[in-house]
Amino acid sequence: MPVGIDDMAIYVPKLYIDYKDFAEARGIDPQKLEYGIGIKKMALADANQDPASMAANACMRLMKNNDLHPQDIGRIYVATESGLDESKAMNSFVIGMLEQVYGESTLEHAGGIECKFACVSGSYALYDNTNWIRAGESNDKAAIVIVSDIAKYDLGSAGEYTQGAGAVALLIKENPRLVAFDERVTSTIIKNEYDFYRPFGKETPLVNGLYSNLLYLIQVRKALETYKEKALKAGIIVLRDDESVTDHIDYISVHLPYRRMGEKALAYLLRHEWRHLPRWKKITEEIGMDEPVPKDPRGTIESILADVEFMKADEKFRRAFMITKYYQDVFDKKMASSLQASAVIGNLYTASMYMGLRSLLEFEYLKNIDLYGKRIGFGSYGSGCSAMVFSGVIQEKYKELVSRMNLDRDIGPRTKISIEDYEKLHKNTRKYNEAFLDAEDEFILVNIGGKTADRAGFREYCYAG
Ligand code: HMG
Repeated sequence: MPVGIDDMAIYVPKLYIDYKDFAEARGIDPQKLEYGIGIKKMALADANQDPASMAANACMRLMKNNDLHPQDIGRIYVATESGLDESKAMNSFVIGMLEQVYGESTLEHAGGIECKFACVSGSYALYDNTNWIRAGESNDKAAIVIVSDIAKYDLGSAGEYTQGAGAVALLIKENPRLVAFDERVTSTIIKNEYDFYRPFGKETPLVNGLYSNLLYLIQVRKALETYKEKALKAGIIVLRDDESVTDHIDYISVHLPYRRMGEKALAYLLRHEWRHLPRWKKITEEIGMDEPVPKDPRGTIESILADVEFMKADEKFRRAFMITKYYQDVFDKKMASSLQASAVIGNLYTASMYMGLRSLLEFEYLKNIDLYGKRIGFGSYGSGCSAMVFSGVIQEKYKELVSRMNLDRDIGPRTKISIEDYEKLHKNTRKYNEAFLDAEDEFILVNIGGKTADRAGFREYCYAG
């Protein structure tokens, strides 16, 4: 019995900052943000929203849209890197909120944990829950995996224009209507790295930006190598001598810290996959230069980044490759639709790739393409670091769900705020009772900490109808 994503729901906070206002405030060329990063609007959590309330809101929408009741659900997992407590799991907050609506103890029979591994943990949560169902442990109940995060970087840092906020809830079932995961192909890679990390007590991460970009590319590529081996062994892909695994994958959805990173990841993976194929000669002829090689091809990431001559030549080659018809054709057909949401929401850490999947489905459907049977390859990356590559096939009933997807409507009417107000939110000078927007049909944070010491750190939420 196939297992996979039966439906998905999103929650994106309605406040945003506009890239032109941001560029002006920071003295950056707006074109850098629009094209170099690929961002136009960054979603911001209001003072009464946090990753738990966003997760509960996405989950509630998923349940309402599918007429799901607590007894239909056996597990609720929340994957996040914006944890609210060192011990108490975020899904317990979410269950508390849902039970305000569905009734006390209605989810008591369920299980679940909060998962952490930077942006990749949602993919691990999906894999584990898929296998829970495959193993026959689910007692005919579904699992819900929620990915929810607030991407927040230091004011004035290079990461500041890669912020965002939001949550995606995924319903995992047998015979799914949207995407069934391929079996025996999921591949992971893991390494102890410090490309991006957030020590205890710090609200914003410490980041080595360029290092993190290259590490992401290398790790996803390595996981793809294992995926390829497993996919050939499982027989889901059969390769001729002049073919690459990417020829057999209809869509490519990768982790999106920012839109441009998706474009660069595709270029990196295609270069790696194609450079030994007959087509490469034609491509380098179109580019007009040979592909550069680092002084020490087996060197470390640091030695490659320090190889200034190579880095310059490689950047030139990459840019030229990205405007060849070979790259453009794959980009337009296999990736472009998955990037649209990222440009108007920003980085969602754990939720980024799944917002990308949602974007892919909605915008490919609008092109009147028959999506049934199309294979999607996923390249998930989390700093620290681990990558996971896996795939799934779009199912026959996808239309009944995808035809209802509408990003603008599902986000709702958005409110642009000034850079001054954004900075107040960033510095946490506005408390949960000083939100910019009135809440409507959603969970909000209404209190932190009780009057007595034994309630220190308590977080209270309510459903604002
Ligand atoms: P930066 O200093 O803005 O980088 O940092 P840049 O100077 O290389 O500029 C970026 C692009 O803008 C370049 O284009 C420039 O040419 C272009 P590209 O080389 O990509 O083709 N540009 C312009 N374009 C048009 N007009 C102009 C102009 N000027 C420049 N006038 C960086 C960028 C992403 C490093 C920074 O924002 C950062 O540190 N972000 C946070 C870390 C991050 O997102 N890393 C991504 C990989 S790691 C990851 O994805 C994991 C993560 O999500 C966390 C997790 O796992 O939990 C972060």
